[in-house]
Amino acid sequence: MTTATYTRFRSDLETYFDRTASKAWEQLTSDAPVSGIRATVRAGRIEMRSTLMSWLPADMTGLRLLDAGCGTGALAVEAAQRGADVVAIDVAGSLVEIARKRAPAGLKIDWRVSDMMDPALGRFDHVVAMDSLIHYRPFDIVDVVSSLAERTSGSLLFTFAPQTPLLTAMLGVGRLFPRGDRSPAIIPVRERLLRTLIRNALPKAGLGRDRRISASFYTSHALEVLPR
Ligand SMILES: C[S@@+](CC[C@H](N)C(=O)[O-])C[C@H]1O[C@@H](n2cnc3c(N)ncnc32)[C@H](O)[C@@H]1O
Repeated sequence: MTTATYTRFRSDLETYFDRTASKAWEQLTSDAPVSGIRATVRAGRIEMRSTLMSWLPADMTGLRLLDAGCGTGALAVEAAQRGADVVAIDVAGSLVEIARKRAPAGLKIDWRVSDMMDPALGRFDHVVAMDSLIHYRPFDIVDVVSSLAERTSGSLLFTFAPQTPLLTAMLGVGRLFPRGDRSPAIIPVRERLLRTLIRNALPKAGLGRDRRISASFYTSHALEVLPR
């Protein structure tokens, strides 16, 4: 069951990533030159992806992985190159199209345009949601995490936007711009609150590794959930 805020925010994100920001996102996730701020975001995101990949098995042959909110598909490709059978899903069809075109041939990736919560996706060994939950409210994040964790046997890795003075200040600057030029708001979340909510929702699960990456304009915190 999803909440009204989840459905509304997902629809805003679909419009934003599918139309408004599709070109910018295609460029950010490519090798094309980008300006100073975007370069720091790109570097931070590369570091985050490599952190998440380092928490997954080196050989993923025969393992099923969900890239939840895959965007242009870099993580899906890396997991498939390790042998995983990947389902890569995103609500933004134009990004999935870019991902499909970029991916090398011969990898086992099932590209889909839909909601990551779709129960028809079945069960997974590992789920990764990199920066795809940062625009949702804490209670909605925890709903998604617990629903996906129930279908995951190995680990569920996700990132959130940590509530730090720096991030709050940067988001404040963003609010000075006209509404139409802005992305849907990133919602900073207190780490302690998130951990408590996850423990309450998933009392049997363990909380494993975590890592915060702050690279100038990119701040994101990864958390490993170990369903049992
Ligand atoms: C900041 S981008 C990150 C994309 C990718 N994970 C990466 O790190 O490059 C967030 C993505 O999550 C997708 N997204 C957000 N909510 C989603 C949902 N409920 N189901 C599927 N995709 C979703 C957005 O469309 C967007 O492409």
